[in-house]
Amino acid sequence: MLISGSGSNLQAIVDAQADDPSFSAELAVVVSDRFGVGGLLRAETFGIPSEVVNWSDYPDRTAFTAAICQTLVRYDVELVVLAGFMRILSEEAIQRFPNAILNIHPALLPAFPGAHAVEDALAYGVKTTGVTVHFVDEHVDHGPIIAQEPVPVMAADTAALLHKRIQTIEHRLYPKCVRAAASGHLRVEGRTVIWNER
Ligand code: GRF
Repeated sequence: MLISGSGSNLQAIVDAQADDPSFSAELAVVVSDRFGVGGLLRAETFGIPSEVVNWSDYPDRTAFTAAICQTLVRYDVELVVLAGFMRILSEEAIQRFPNAILNIHPALLPAFPGAHAVEDALAYGVKTTGVTVHFVDEHVDHGPIIAQEPVPVMAADTAALLHKRIQTIEHRLYPKCVRAAASGHLRVEGRTVIWNER
């Protein structure tokens, strides 16, 4: 799993694995693009190996992505799960892990891509936003959609309140998608993701 923040989705996936013996994929490594984030502490608590590939140590995205890929290959990773990972990976990662990188986005794509999806949805005045889980392709917040779920926007919402409600959905939806991907139950045909088992 690649993280940049608190790792609440990491927590949700670990919890889902603990609750479901058939969700048997090994969480090989947690990689952060920065030091000192909550997700690294969680990984340590769970006894999952963790690595920091520090963004500011690399001259550009290509060099950073190469270092990320080297780390993932060293751990024999087959599926890459981005959870609050705030960096855009370059071409090398997409080529090395075709349809094997998952991302979770706090809006109903293609609405509100980018790093401020919750704020943007609120500012636009939509009545419904949501969560999207998708495979990562060469464009940002664009790859084939695995699952989506709507979240209503309330009149009294602040970005923080709305994001909290969105995360409640994320924590249920993402483990389900990761489990399906890790079990080989997702097939991609063009832009369509076909679930062989739910
Ligand atoms: C999630 O809300 C996700 O949608 C967004 O970043 C947040 C990560 O949260 N891309 P966490 O680090 O898993 O707590």
